[in-house]
Amino acid sequence: MSIQSSFDRKWEENVYSQGKQLNRYPFSDLVSYVMRLYAERLRSGEALRALELGFGGGNNIVFLATEGFETWGIEGSPSAHAFASARMKEKRINTELTVGDFVRLPYDNEFFDLVIDREAVYCNMPSAIKKIIREVVRVLKKGGRFLTFMYSLEHGSRLSDGGKLIDVNTYNDFVQGNFAGTGITHFFSEKEILNYLKDFEIEFMKHLRVDSLIPYKRNEYAEYHTCARKR
Ligand SMILES: C[S@@+](CC[C@H](N)C(=O)[O-])C[C@H]1O[C@@H](n2cnc3c(N)ncnc32)[C@H](O)[C@@H]1O
Repeated sequence: MSIQSSFDRKWEENVYSQGKQLNRYPFSDLVSYVMRLYAERLRSGEALRALELGFGGGNNIVFLATEGFETWGIEGSPSAHAFASARMKEKRINTELTVGDFVRLPYDNEFFDLVIDREAVYCNMPSAIKKIIREVVRVLKKGGRFLTFMYSLEHGSRLSDGGKLIDVNTYNDFVQGNFAGTGITHFFSEKEILNYLKDFEIEFMKHLRVDSLIPYKRNEYAEYHTCARKR
């Protein structure tokens, strides 16, 4: 797979062009973190630029823009882009949404105050993830934040849903569960994330694990939430 194009087209073919996973509401933890970090600055009228990597249905962008961020988004799927653009038009939200690949972000150096990855970077091969993080560093202002949500090695799907191992901690072709049909799926360790983010000051890092007990016993999901500030 060329590093110039890391986007897995299964997101277009199996998911968004079929009208699936076009999430309507922003993720609650993302809302909490963003409001905790930025509510005061937004209230004071400061102009803040936010980028979402992999905006899907535009659910998180609607929230960011409504709260007063100037927003940009990049997404590999043309169907998701068309859907999110229509949603923004309907809500009269002014935002710049681009179809593109995270490995080459079409933005100037030190442009953003905040870059959000709500479970999007994980859909890439390890070699591309390195490149994507370098791009995030490049486009963030000094003191800007990278707020990232990354699935962990403890995620129940990793060993239970029939994924094919294709690289270190990276799977494809899950036969069941949340990742079936969505293509490349990388699971992270704490050490790996900290290594990717070594140019940042880590403001917080959490590991969340949700274990289902009834009607079945298994880990439902496990993920890291990390807020990293560019030095
Ligand atoms: C799990 S979805 C998350 C969508 C959205 N962030 C949310 O929270 O609802 C991951 C998204 O990242 C996009 N994506 C993954 N890797 C990409 C890449 N290398 N370039 C562009 N888009 C990518 C996929 O198309 C998909 O929309």
